[in-house]
Amino acid sequence: MDKKELIRKAIEAQQKAYVPYSKFKVGAALVTEEGDVYTGCNIEIASYSPTICAERTAIFKAISEGAKKIKTIAVVGDSDFTYPCGVCRQVIREFGKDATIIVANSEEDYKEYKLEDLLPYSFGPEDLEKNNQE
Ligand code: THU
Repeated sequence: MDKKELIRKAIEAQQKAYVPYSKFKVGAALVTEEGDVYTGCNIEIASYSPTICAERTAIFKAISEGAKKIKTIAVVGDSDFTYPCGVCRQVIREFGKDATIIVANSEEDYKEYKLEDLLPYSFGPEDLEKNNQE
């Protein structure tokens, strides 16, 4: 799965966004370390707070199907380079400390980051390991 293909999958997923309130469509596509691909879109709920971002839809789909580690996640939104929100960055951190994040306007127009660039000095599973040993 190359970068352009992953972006194309995110664009396809974006079309499925359920966004009656914001009208802001987001799509995400991720590839795991094992090479499996999962996609997601944002889904909005009338009472607002249950709304879920495209990135978390894709990640929770992946983890619930047995995936272990995110290698790369591509995000496509309605703004010029839509970046993952803070909550999604933390969720990516949980399952992809070394993940690559692609924010794309199109297959040709994209930027690439490491999770560490977007979430420096992060808190993650390793921080709790010592407390969980007893
Ligand atoms: N949204 C995402 O799906 N991903 C992001 O990274 C940013 C925000 C969604 C949530 C909501 O449905 C809409 O965009 C407006 O915030």
